Amino acid sequence: MRYFAHYLLAMESSSPTSDVSEVLQRIAQLEEKYAGMGQDMRAYLEGLYYSNGLTYWDYIHLDSLLGLQTPRTPLHDEVIFITYHQITELMFKLVKLELEALTEDRGAESEFLQLSFWRRRMSRAVNYFRHLSNSFDIMLSGLDPDEMRKFRMALLPASGFQSAQYRHIEIMSTALENLVRGDRPEDESASIEDLYAGMYWKQGGIDLETKQKTLTLRDFERKYDEPLIHLLHKYQTRNLYYLYSQAPDAVREDAALRELLRSYDLHVNVFWKLSHLAAASRHLVSGGADIEATGGTNWRTFLPPRFQRVMFFPSLWSAQEQEEWGKAAVMKLFQEQVARVWHSPTSSTSPS
Ligand code: HEM
Repeated sequence: MRYFAHYLLAMESSSPTSDVSEVLQRIAQLEEKYAGMGQDMRAYLEGLYYSNGLTYWDYIHLDSLLGLQTPRTPLHDEVIFITYHQITELMFKLVKLELEALTEDRGAESEFLQLSFWRRRMSRAVNYFRHLSNSFDIMLSGLDPDEMRKFRMALLPASGFQSAQYRHIEIMSTALENLVRGDRPEDESASIEDLYAGMYWKQGGIDLETKQKTLTLRDFERKYDEPLIHLLHKYQTRNLYYLYSQAPDAVREDAALRELLRSYDLHVNVFWKLSHLAAASRHLVSGGADIEATGGTNWRTFLPPRFQRVMFFPSLWSAQEQEEWGKAAVMKLFQEQVARVWHSPTSSTSPS
């Protein structure tokens, strides 16, 4: 079939001007595209003629976005609290986008065989979590403790603990066994459903006094048990740790990628959790005494990374690093921060 634009192009070739040829070539491409869909390009060109140009505010749905912060109290800082949670969920979405790209099933020729692809995707995921940890101060010094104490009572029993996207990130990143509590049965035949019941975070939803599941956890389970178990089945042989262990030598033995994976493990399971713990400690402790967390959980023994000991890629850590989970990384970070302050030109303590 000869397209109209091709015909004009042929006519044009006797006395071509580059602008006209380029336009005709683009029209020819469009004609081919629409013909491939069984459509007539001319109808679409007419639509294009009448359509309005895109605006920034329509493109990013700005009005909807700015209408999504609906506080439950008149207290000023509650909007900060809601907005930062939403920002975090959007960042989680971006992390998942990279994890999905890495774990997507594209057959034997899949891009996951390529080192550059792994490096690019993992760098982005690390970067997002780095920003999340670094920005957590918005929940620390950026929230008035008195206001926070008041408005959080109006939010019960909701908790960030109910973030399903955070659980998605974990499930996509590692084997289920690595997300199960230490005292799990060593039963090889345990089903996904059995292991799901023993996932480490279920501890975070147990009432200190009654030892029963909190309403926060029960609400979460009612909504998410089924989709999470479905995701666990899907990612059993597709999670990042599994795919990495199956990847070609060039990928598995690359030192830079190894560091990126270790860094991702630290950023999710140590640095972000420590930033979060700092916020909880500031807002859930008053005059030296604990204030009840959502549903009365023992957040002090549940939240610290050294108690949780969640590792996405255990084989990338030495026995000592596993034993002292996160300690070396935290010390290193602390030393870097001290050095930065020490060498800062504005620091009064910096050597002259
Ligand atoms: C002042 C701010 C915050 C405080 C005081 C706080 C407090 C807590 C507490 C006490 C828990 C334990 C479960 C419970 O008792 O509810 C928890 C868990 C959790 N929160 Fe927050 N939180 C804060 C901000 C955030 C933000 C901004 C997010 C982002 C989505 C978040 C996400 C989570 C997650 C994912 C868990 C489960 C952690 C895990 O399984 O290790 N929290 N939070």
